Amino acid sequence: MSETTELQNKVSLIDTISELDTFEKDTIGPQSELMKKFKDLTQLPVEQRKLLGNELNNQKKLLQNIFDTKREELKKKELSIQLSTWKDISLAIPQHKIGKLNPLTQERWKIEDIFQKMGFEIAYAFEVDSEYNNFEAVNIPEGHPARDSWDTLFTNVDKNVLITHTSSLQNRILKEFATKIDALENGFLGTAGIGKCFRHESTDARHEHTFFQCEGVVVGKGIRFSDMIGILKTFFEAYFEKEVEIRISCDYFPFVEPGNGIEIRWDNPSENILKITKGTGWLEVLGCGMIHPNVLKMAEIDHEVYSGFAWGFGLERLVMIKYAVDDIRLFHSGDRRFLDQF
Ligand code: PHE
Repeated sequence: MSETTELQNKVSLIDTISELDTFEKDTIGPQSELMKKFKDLTQLPVEQRKLLGNELNNQKKLLQNIFDTKREELKKKELSIQLSTWKDISLAIPQHKIGKLNPLTQERWKIEDIFQKMGFEIAYAFEVDSEYNNFEAVNIPEGHPARDSWDTLFTNVDKNVLITHTSSLQNRILKEFATKIDALENGFLGTAGIGKCFRHESTDARHEHTFFQCEGVVVGKGIRFSDMIGILKTFFEAYFEKEVEIRISCDYFPFVEPGNGIEIRWDNPSENILKITKGTGWLEVLGCGMIHPNVLKMAEIDHEVYSGFAWGFGLERLVMIKYAVDDIRLFHSGDRRFLDQF
């Protein structure tokens, strides 16, 4: 095998450019055997020097050619590897799914729509509000044992709290009603207030530390308990788009008297749903009642002339019943397998 063929074989086995560089340096670089032969030419007589010089030049050109060809080949190979592993992110865009609104946002809009059609105004709660609005203004003064039923998260600024319920809106809504109520001939003033609430509680399939509530506040002359049930039933049937069975129980909230809870019956409950309803198929969705005179007084509404009712329902719970969702924690999970179904 000639020296050149042997070298060609060795070069053909190389598969990185840096290996090739080293081999090239050793073979035809300044310190190589070949370059030494060039230096030795000076010792030879002119004729021989010419002859051998030509030969060495040709050999060097040949070798250089072998290295250059191999280098081109390796560069192409590396580029094609890079191209096959790189991603053109501008090309990838159409393959991504476009994001969607969280089901709670979609359902909240439907709920707002229904209440607006029923003559309600829509309001939004502050996520951080004063202790006064969250507790005192709804008849829960400091030291009142009912404060313990809300696992409150306090901030360390100005006695503010992360609202534990949208009843934090009641005083503001009622004060606004107080400015308009004398002009009201008949009918009612109604506002549906929506907000995110927070409780320091351990979570399970029915309880989340962060959840939405919708607060209803209605005031007028001669407003009765039956008006409250009528309005709520009308709302439920508009939201569920079918007849809804409800169950009313007694409950205690310091800002209403009497106070009640309302449960909705789940259609064809699955095993998981039966588990979260403790086997009954009924899920409590709301607290409500006739507004306590103290609460009206604190907003300067004459409780001898006017009466009203209030409710607060958990938005997630309604959505759970509507779509047979068996774990409340899914809503904030960010799990696309769940969210993409809406
Ligand atoms: N704020 C109560 C709660 O979060 C619900 C409620 C609202 C009850 C209005 C009565 C009237 O549990």
